[in-house]
Amino acid sequence: MERVTVQCLKNGPYEVEGDLLITDANGKVVSHPGRQTYHLCRCGGSGKKPFCDGTHERIHFKSE
Ligand code: FES
Repeated sequence: MERVTVQCLKNGPYEVEGDLLITDANGKVVSHPGRQTYHLCRCGGSGKKPFCDGTHERIHFKSE
């Protein structure tokens, strides 16, 4: 089984790497086949969830 890595970036998104199946709230697949790196919103402010769109910087999201 392929390893999946998840890293919390300081004051930013989750960086997730692997061959993943990511869906939106309606079950629509929003990931791509094969090994990829994704940045998933952790601040709740992204306009293109589940992905990070950089809003965390504008709202000065803070997290360890
Ligand atoms: S973590 Fe980047 S927009 Fe939410």
